[in-house]
Amino acid sequence: MESNSKKTTGLTRPLHDLHPPAGDLLSEVLTGLTAPQKTLPCKYFYDQKGSQLFDKICELAEYYPTRTEISILDQSAREISDKVGPKITLIELGSGSSSKTENLLQKIDEVQRYVPIDISREHLMEASERIAGRFPHIEVWPICADMNEEVSLPDDIDTTSKRVLFFPGSTVGNFEHESQIAFLSRMKRLCANVGDQLLIGIDLIKDIKTLEAAYNDAEGVTSEFNLNILQRINTELGADFKIDHFIHRAVFNKVKSRIEMHLVSVTDQVVQIQEEKFQFDSNESICTEYSHKFTIDGFVQMAQPIGWELEQAWTDKDQLFAVLLLRLGEL
Ligand code: AVJ
Repeated sequence: MESNSKKTTGLTRPLHDLHPPAGDLLSEVLTGLTAPQKTLPCKYFYDQKGSQLFDKICELAEYYPTRTEISILDQSAREISDKVGPKITLIELGSGSSSKTENLLQKIDEVQRYVPIDISREHLMEASERIAGRFPHIEVWPICADMNEEVSLPDDIDTTSKRVLFFPGSTVGNFEHESQIAFLSRMKRLCANVGDQLLIGIDLIKDIKTLEAAYNDAEGVTSEFNLNILQRINTELGADFKIDHFIHRAVFNKVKSRIEMHLVSVTDQVVQIQEEKFQFDSNESICTEYSHKFTIDGFVQMAQPIGWELEQAWTDKDQLFAVLLLRLGEL
């Protein structure tokens, strides 16, 4: 008789664990605050509190990207399904709770295999079990890895099944230009064949008022989200940031086509982090995040030399956001 014990998780494949290092908060914070323009890496926003605040941001009236992307995916699901074809391997980068994918899987026919890749083992396993339970005909192959690094797929994954990479959320906009190109090259290396595809969400350039409002909500949730990184550094590194001595600022840099988020010191002050002291002038800022905005053409121009060709672009009626399907034209 077949053993039932393996079925308890509903997972088809055991976790493929690349053991991504946790990231060295202390050394990255010290390095960031030592530069002439002080910076903190935006990946450190997402502790438990920060992740909750980000979920809250996605519900805000001013923050249009999440709901717009979801509705684009919803409305174009049939066309996406036709363009990707049957029996695909769907690979998601930074899958988190896989919620956008869960919607998509309902509507794309005959996905054969879902490969979620995330750095958080806990979120990854929770989401994988949920998806496997809900779609018993899909093989789920979870991979714990940092998508900012080179990711290797399990050796026994077949190279004949069509691969479709999924990277929603305009998260590509957090990278600087050079890193966007590096990311698109890494995505190419995750492919096996010409004709493999990348489905990617990008936030579009629009009027400054709409852009800046999305990062300066009336309720102050984005401000709380930004300031939370200082709280995290206090808690985890024993630093002495006075949170109310910094204010949130988000401005659109037109030349660089990006929202830049800062924490601005409201006074001359010194902050201590373990053995190190950092001096802040009044009005001096820490840059905490870039969120680049694109045109469809501009993005395609960047992707083309790497080998990615535009197959189709879907957008909303106000052209706020776009979902692009790119196709690998050469290996
Ligand atoms: C999840 C990185 C796409 O840049 O819009 C939201 C993060 N920061 N509000 C974005 C974010 C402030 C978000 N991304």
